[in-house]
Amino acid sequence: MCGIVAYIGKRQATDVMIEGLRRLEYRGYDSAGVAVMGPEHCFQIAKTPGRIETLAEIIDQHPLAGGIGIGHTRWATHGAATQENSHPHLGGDAAIALVHNGVIENYQTLKGQLEDEGYVFQSATDSEVVAHLIDFHLRQGDDEAISGNGDPYQPLLTAVAAALAQLRGTYGLAMLFRRWPDVIVAARLGSPLVIGVGNGEHFVASDASPLVGYTDQIVYLADHQIALVRAHEINVTHRDLGEVRHCIEHLAMESQDVSLEDFPHYMLKEIFDQPRTLQDTMRGRLSYDDATAVFGGLNLSPQQLRQVNRVILTACGTSWHAALVGEYLIEEFARLPVEVEYASELRYRNPPVDRDTILFAITQSGETADTLAALRELKRKGHPTLAICNVVGSSIAQEADGGIYLHAGPEIGVASTKAYTSQLAVLAMLALYFGRIRHLSFEAGCRIIDALHELPEKIQQTLAVHDEVKRIAEKYADVTNMLYLGRHYNFPTALEGALKLKEISYLHAEGYPAAEMKHGPIALVDQHTPTVFVIPQGFVYDKVMSNLEEIKARGGPVIAVVGEGDTRVARLADDVIYVPVVEEFLEPFVSIVPLQLLAYHIAVLRGCDVDKPRNLAKSVTVE
Ligand code: G6P
Repeated sequence: MCGIVAYIGKRQATDVMIEGLRRLEYRGYDSAGVAVMGPEHCFQIAKTPGRIETLAEIIDQHPLAGGIGIGHTRWATHGAATQENSHPHLGGDAAIALVHNGVIENYQTLKGQLEDEGYVFQSATDSEVVAHLIDFHLRQGDDEAISGNGDPYQPLLTAVAAALAQLRGTYGLAMLFRRWPDVIVAARLGSPLVIGVGNGEHFVASDASPLVGYTDQIVYLADHQIALVRAHEINVTHRDLGEVRHCIEHLAMESQDVSLEDFPHYMLKEIFDQPRTLQDTMRGRLSYDDATAVFGGLNLSPQQLRQVNRVILTACGTSWHAALVGEYLIEEFARLPVEVEYASELRYRNPPVDRDTILFAITQSGETADTLAALRELKRKGHPTLAICNVVGSSIAQEADGGIYLHAGPEIGVASTKAYTSQLAVLAMLALYFGRIRHLSFEAGCRIIDALHELPEKIQQTLAVHDEVKRIAEKYADVTNMLYLGRHYNFPTALEGALKLKEISYLHAEGYPAAEMKHGPIALVDQHTPTVFVIPQGFVYDKVMSNLEEIKARGGPVIAVVGEGDTRVARLADDVIYVPVVEEFLEPFVSIVPLQLLAYHIAVLRGCDVDKPRNLAKSVTVE
């Protein structure tokens, strides 16, 4: 959702920005633009609704030469995806060029005040308000600028800080100023920004992916910080603390993490990455010595964790489905009561929460606005809050008291795949950990570790279903409705399978617990509505078989995901996908793989843009 790339240094800024914006495409956007500091300190601007390729063509025809620039991909919130609403926006009399991520909630009030001051607005966006507001404060501060304290940037910093203090909402900002042509000003509150440190050059971006290949030195900007970024120097100030020392960290991302390699889409690459990403998630975290999982960053002692008598798992989207599996796992292994809450509901619901309750926020991006708000709410009430998160240094990772990183590498496809299975792996290890500090025996702990160790190989074997799934996708690519049914550990798999299909193929799909199908969805069943049954082995096998018979009796086509060696289902189902037989608690890991592939191939056959589905954003940083 919206992306920022800015550059200052010896390269052509547009080269860095266009390449960087392409790497941020996965976040979702509907217009793109850049501003480059030109000769005589005038801004050269190119922006357009639509794809980055269109912007690149415009720049090819009319190059914007210069080594300082700000770039943006916009995901429309306030105002349609038009040329006028695309960023960058200008403030004052083209004194400022600005790109903004986030939402300014009080923009209408500020806009009214600025219009009274004579400012004329070109767009319907909340972002343009920020540009004019800073200009307003710069003009107000002119006297100070003349008297000055010797620091030529002081008036700039003062004006920016004064304007930001008036904003309600969230922002990640990168700005250029005609009067200070050698600096990019970056600021954040609730919308991520990082600074890449190069040799005589700096990069500003919404996440680390545009930096890869240029530098592995990164500064994570924190909320309420403003950075003055020049080619050779960065100065960071904090709203309350004044000038602060910034900490340069090592960026562990590699170029193959953000390249497609030989795959046609990131989603397919990420599906096939899963054996490796699962290994990375579990590496060093399973110990036979104590038959438990080991986590370095929980920041709570075993004694404190032993006090926990209730767990809340909160998340959105796919991460919420992972939480549902987590509920089954933690309750099973640790006999701890677990509640799974949509973050968007939890943040406003004000539920009574027992004293010894711990919250885990599960999020791939670490930036989802609702998940962050839910975490803050529970933190405010004094509960320990932990994050299960993929993106290092993200807002939720920073704000949580502690947490567990997925180490799944950057996930670029908008539809989450490898992050989901890594979330499941973390939750399985967490269930083992909680189990072992409670009732789970040493022997049972070792058996769980054995099974988890075998998991990457089992996923590798599962990927062999690829061709078969592609064949099935061809058969059903023209349907308009699909049902997904599963029970117990595979009820969340059914939900996640349906969500995958919806997200990228725009087909209507519903996931249900198999037995609930009788209470409504069965009315949808006819010969044009296929049902995907997730029905590997396990104690609910016979129950799900009866549900399958009920669908067949009504003429509905059935695609069944079953354990290898199964013969009963083959008799009834129209299409069968065999997956390796695993311990029951690992079924959600293997059974989701064919459903990810099914959604992928149906979407490709229907001509959909798999990695950038319409209307969706990878990280949803608005409420
Ligand atoms: C968006 C994405 C989904 C994702 C959800 C939660 O809607 O399109 O794929 O599951 O956000 O994201 P998070 O980063 O918090 O896991």
